[in-house]
Amino acid sequence: MSELRESEAFKTLESHRADTGGLHLRDLFAEDPSRGTDLVAEACGLYFDYSKNRITRETIGLLTALARDRRMPERRDAMFRGEHINVSEDRAVLHVALRMPRSRSLVVDGVDVVREVHEVLDRMADFSEKVRSGEWKGQTGKPIRRIVNIGIGGSDLGPVMAYEALKDYSRRDLEFRFVSNVDGTDFYEATLDADPAETLFIVSSKTFTTLETMTNAHTARQWVLDGLGGDESAIAKHFVAVSTNAEGVAGFGIDTGNMFGFWEWVGGRYSMDSAIGLSTMLAIGPDRFAEMLDGFHAMDEHFLETNLETNLPVLHGLLTVWYRNFFEAETHAVFPYSEYLHRFPAYLQQLTMESNGKSVTLDGARVDYGTGAIFWGEPGTNGQHSFYQLVHQGTELIPADFIGFNHALNPLGNHQDLLVSNVFAQTEALAFGKTVEQLRAEGVDERLIPHKTFLGNRPTSTIMADRLTPKTLGSLVALYEHSVFTQGAIWNIDSFDQWGVELGKALAQAIIPELESEEPPPLDHDSSTTELIRRYREANGRK
Ligand code: F6P
Repeated sequence: MSELRESEAFKTLESHRADTGGLHLRDLFAEDPSRGTDLVAEACGLYFDYSKNRITRETIGLLTALARDRRMPERRDAMFRGEHINVSEDRAVLHVALRMPRSRSLVVDGVDVVREVHEVLDRMADFSEKVRSGEWKGQTGKPIRRIVNIGIGGSDLGPVMAYEALKDYSRRDLEFRFVSNVDGTDFYEATLDADPAETLFIVSSKTFTTLETMTNAHTARQWVLDGLGGDESAIAKHFVAVSTNAEGVAGFGIDTGNMFGFWEWVGGRYSMDSAIGLSTMLAIGPDRFAEMLDGFHAMDEHFLETNLETNLPVLHGLLTVWYRNFFEAETHAVFPYSEYLHRFPAYLQQLTMESNGKSVTLDGARVDYGTGAIFWGEPGTNGQHSFYQLVHQGTELIPADFIGFNHALNPLGNHQDLLVSNVFAQTEALAFGKTVEQLRAEGVDERLIPHKTFLGNRPTSTIMADRLTPKTLGSLVALYEHSVFTQGAIWNIDSFDQWGVELGKALAQAIIPELESEEPPPLDHDSSTTELIRRYREANGRK
């Protein structure tokens, strides 16, 4: 049995679950009138109401005891010190340095990383101002009107999410597009109505080797050359790169003077606040970008300094562990009640699942407990008219986060009241349900009672903020980053590697020539893969 399962802290939680798991939120609230005002925590402008979770007041104490037993605080401190906590890649994990103020210093392996971070931020700001003011000119002397970020995974999901989330703060006369998929349609649609003379490509890739990004970048290069008369000097005016790989950038033909660097201690899915956020800065400007970094940093400080019992990311992470390991919940839903956050669940999917989708511990032993939950979600209220049926009455227990705002960015009539009423109504309905007695008292036909019964006792947390600002977004993202960290520390897994993406990449490399060769290739696959390849070749007129 694993160390985690054998630990006293884990066993205590198992018996606590056996004792309390049958309790209903209806009773927990009825017996404890101040539950809704006590089981809350607040920091960095985020109000975290976790009272509608299937816990008693004792549960948080037991979960924080588990965190201490697993030495989560020590591991957190080691991350902030720059130790190599990403053991399988032997790397520091220092996204928290990306948002440290200029006045701070953090020396890692003899280098002040905060100074380096601010050098890059200053260069990004300088470049952004040039593009935004029209001083930066394309090959024909026209200013830039369309900015296309080419990247995938962490080099795409964060930039898209942040652009969409902060659109209200963005320059509307600049158009932003994001090309990620190697499906040519993505590039085609992003450039269909674009003028190469007014288009700037940001090639964003930590490694500068990723198949999708490099393919799209080469296509973009050709598109610019074709559109601007073939003069190679156009590349310097229409391409910049964000990468850790200066050699790769130079090899592609981008002047490294037009490269914005970052460091191997920034994981792709933790990089939206590094130079990978260049498109965000171009959209909202350097000052707003700095506000976003302030929001991240405020949550970092909260995570580092606040006791575990009132620490938002710790509470969030421990509740995720609670459902994953003691209720066997396989998924966790996130429902932002803000259309601007419509890419937030997609962003969180990489953050959570690429981080904690692991089955071995730091020292390589196979785990005997569940790790990363499947994160998913959509904005409310749309989801209510789609899959909430299953969340309310299906057979699965789906813990969910509801995210809402006191104020709309675009107030229109009573839209915001209607929107937020649904946040409160949904969490109330999920917690308390509707009983047979209530239905009978309403005179509902006996035959329909089973169909109209809501068992309730479905756990939710509600995160409320005043309004969606760059700062709020930074704090919100950092909350989830550190929640992921907390979960990974309990499970003793490496939340910062991603070996699971490698096998498919390698196999695709082997299959590409088998699809493209003129002559029939020898195929050494299983019968299914062989036949799929054969049929594809045939459909494309290849023998
Ligand atoms: O394939 C997964 C992955 O390595 C992610 O971890 C990363 O965010 C993405 O690909 C893109 O990588 P890069 O920025 O190096 O192109």
